[in-house]
Amino acid sequence: MWYHTFQMENDDLQRELHTHNRASWNAATLAHNSHRGDQARFFREGGSTLHPEEIDLLGEVKGRTLVHLLCNAGQDTLSIAAHLGAHVHGVDISDEAIAFARHLSQDAHIPATFERADVYDWFAQASSQHRQFDLVFSSYGVVHWLSDLTLWARGISAVLKPGGRLVLVDFHPLERIFDRDFQVVASYFPRERIDTLAQGVSDYLTRSPGKVTPFAYEPGVEHFENPHPAHLFRWTLGEVLTAIGGAGLRLKRLQEYPHSIAMRFRPMREIPGYRTMPLEGMPLVPLLYGLQAEKPEH
Ligand SMILES: C[S@@+](CC[C@H](N)C(=O)[O-])C[C@H]1O[C@@H](n2cnc3c(N)ncnc32)[C@H](O)[C@@H]1O
Repeated sequence: MWYHTFQMENDDLQRELHTHNRASWNAATLAHNSHRGDQARFFREGGSTLHPEEIDLLGEVKGRTLVHLLCNAGQDTLSIAAHLGAHVHGVDISDEAIAFARHLSQDAHIPATFERADVYDWFAQASSQHRQFDLVFSSYGVVHWLSDLTLWARGISAVLKPGGRLVLVDFHPLERIFDRDFQVVASYFPRERIDTLAQGVSDYLTRSPGKVTPFAYEPGVEHFENPHPAHLFRWTLGEVLTAIGGAGLRLKRLQEYPHSIAMRFRPMREIPGYRTMPLEGMPLVPLLYGLQAEKPEH
């Protein structure tokens, strides 16, 4: 079985890097949520954090089972349940994110289940228990936390029902050729797979307070410094698609978008749907991508 291979390949280094990432996300998640005001009220009043891209790619999911991988504090998971009608289960490595998501689900009266786990451990456990879902969903800042794309894609295939779909929306890896001023400064092809951020996951909501977010902004935690480093894993789009195809999933759609969802660069403007575009007249390049891939029936 594929998960035995995983257990042999998942060496101590990978575990250690994931442990740092867990600690870094625990600290950052507290800071992020400190800026978002009363989120339970936001959801009780009918709020949603979904963007047109994932709504389009998810399509009709009413009554379907959906696992949301790397779900952070569950805002998108709950939006999918409340607005699209799926039965949702969220998985994330961060203790703080999952504790927050569980409270939010209760306080917002939106049924959902959440599990704290390293996604690779979760795949191993879920597939050994023959758990399967109609959909696997993951979005916005997920692929660069994955230390092994082959095992990720195989894990997804194992937990999808035949005919089930993967929907992924993420920042386009081309983004990393630019600095914050949108100048080309780096190669698209990563020289090193592991990219360590000594300063850890940042409190990036403070970059553009109250912009590009459906939540009211609160000052919350100020001058956040993350004591835990974080480790990103750099992949190209070709490697992502190769892993998905290699796991036997059929690519149905691949979309590239010239806009993003946050002030990723300084010369950007807000556009409807809590999204951002480079300023007028700047050349357009893909900043996000989204895809649908299907597990064949036979
Ligand atoms: C940028 S967030 C995802 C954003 C999410 N779409 C949202 O709405 O907030 C990335 C998430 O990946 C999680 N993560 C990182 N490595 C992981 C791993 N090995 N297993 C499970 N979750 C992981 C982090 O805890 C974090 O919550």
